[in-house]
Amino acid sequence: MPKDISKEKSINKAKTTVELVICAVIIGTSVFLGKNCIDNVKVIPSTNNEASIIEDIDIPDPSEAIDPDKIVYTPTSINTKMKFSGNLILVNNDHEYFSTGEENLVSIMTKNDEAGRSTFTAVDYDYKLLADTYESLAKMVDDWYNIYRNDTLIVYGAHRTKEFQQQLYDQFSANTAGDGEAPIVALPGFSEHETGLAFDFSETAGYDYQGTGDFQWLNENCYKYGFIIRYTEEKESVTKYRSEPWHFRYVGKPHAMYMKNNNLCLEEYIELLRSNYTYGGEHLNTKDEYGNDYEIFFYPSEDGADVTNVPVPTGIRYDISGNNIDGFIVTVYIDEKTDIGQENPALTTSPYAYSTTTADESSTDTTSEETTETTVAY
Ligand code: DAL
Ligand code: ZN
Repeated sequence: MPKDISKEKSINKAKTTVELVICAVIIGTSVFLGKNCIDNVKVIPSTNNEASIIEDIDIPDPSEAIDPDKIVYTPTSINTKMKFSGNLILVNNDHEYFSTGEENLVSIMTKNDEAGRSTFTAVDYDYKLLADTYESLAKMVDDWYNIYRNDTLIVYGAHRTKEFQQQLYDQFSANTAGDGEAPIVALPGFSEHETGLAFDFSETAGYDYQGTGDFQWLNENCYKYGFIIRYTEEKESVTKYRSEPWHFRYVGKPHAMYMKNNNLCLEEYIELLRSNYTYGGEHLNTKDEYGNDYEIFFYPSEDGADVTNVPVPTGIRYDISGNNIDGFIVTVYIDEKTDIGQENPALTTSPYAYSTTTADESSTDTTSEETTETTVAY
């Protein structure tokens, strides 16, 4: 064998050996590094023992997660004078009622005739109530009639003008001067009857409603329809009126139910909301008789400005009512989702259409109403 060939073979052999050694080193290093690598992504036990996490994964802070049930509020501009309108206005000796002149009043008997309803009557064809109040009254009496089959119920008092209230007040004062009891007829301008949200029942033409017998059901169940018995003996020191089992006031279902369950008269409820359930603080979460959920809060009016920017929910139905004192009460119908922008189509219609006659100008409503014989309830 030539010397060069044999030398070449020895070199190749040596090269192969070196290559094998290098390979072995590379494989060994890879295995070592690979093992270390796997060790580095080892599952790390979670501290709460419920789940495991892999290091370097960005876990979101649960407190920052979006809650789909969270209500998003945005401001809506409300004429500040609307604080004098709505289902929750407090009208009493201290808080005068200011008519907008645009209340959506309907004739009780006309509505009954249109609906073919004969479950109750009004003592006069011209007796009127706000449309929503009439609808809730009719539903309540229809349900009552279906239990007792009694059709003698009469609405003896309904909406009154300030002038008509004056006439009643004068008559009452003449009849009861000096009897020493809490009043039973409000001063003109200070009667709930001027709002169209209140009415009086009579069992017969004798003006004799006491909420007893068949009629007890009405006084006990009226909250399911959004009504309260406004003047009770127990709350006489707060309302400043003696007990009137015949006088019903519409406030809306969640409010009526909360007031009944918590034994609050309207004065106490309005004060509770404005003191304890403001927009920036805790909201009142409550239900109605049918299990529907509501969120309720108070927002103060910006009395120096023409408009108040009231926070309202996005994509959920709501109502706004003034409290007739210092602001607005927002009622959110949690279960009633809406298209964005369709939350409250009724907002532009009565009773919120506040126009020319304002509190500042003082009410001078001269709507015609009979001012002759007054066989009415108080
Ligand atoms: N009877 C009630 C207080 C009114 O006159 O309004
Ligand atoms: Zn009354």
